[in-house]
Amino acid sequence: MTARLVVLVSGSGTNLQALLDACADPAYGAEVVAVGADRGDIEGLSRAERVGVPTFVLKVGDFATREAWDAALAESVAAYEPDLVVLAGFMKLVGSAFLTRHGGRVVNTHPALSPSFPGMHGPADALEYGVKVTGATLFVVDPGVDTGQIVAQTVVPVEDDDTVESLHERIKVAERAMLVDAVGRMAREGFVVTGRRVRIG
Ligand code: GAR
Repeated sequence: MTARLVVLVSGSGTNLQALLDACADPAYGAEVVAVGADRGDIEGLSRAERVGVPTFVLKVGDFATREAWDAALAESVAAYEPDLVVLAGFMKLVGSAFLTRHGGRVVNTHPALSPSFPGMHGPADALEYGVKVTGATLFVVDPGVDTGQIVAQTVVPVEDDDTVESLHERIKVAERAMLVDAVGRMAREGFVVTGRRVRIG
């Protein structure tokens, strides 16, 4: 059985591309059935369109309230009957309607080693703090900011001459490999969450 993935993006979509490339091999065990975004005109949507994957865009500003946007997003995702929802560079927090509908099978990738440096500026905050290693974390989304149970992590060094951009690019290379590996194993083997711990298979 092939797991159905809905991927949500806000930007360049290189993590999405890594998943699309992996899904081209039937042995990977997953297919991207739709890609959603909170804004139009982004490379992430173009990547999906180029390979014929359906897309949808829901902008917060087009809704009367944040809650209405969140409920509409939950509905749009549900229409594709996903086994797993992957937030891959999705720069919005999903809310209670979304998590009521999809909670437990939503994962997000964050460019830092949780629980350090949650939020929108993981690479910059790590560089500012002066850590010598950082990385990326795949986690099961909960109502907090990057607080959910950890599925996988990958470590990269911080170099003396790093800028935020060079560090984030190094993180993203490792992040894509981690994401493809973990999502594939989750799709093929399933996963169990017990307290804070996630076990694949
Ligand atoms: C990734 O590094 C991802 O972890 C980060 O945005 C980048 C998206 O890259 N996400 C967040 O910071 C979420 N708070 P991509 O669009 O090339 O996949």
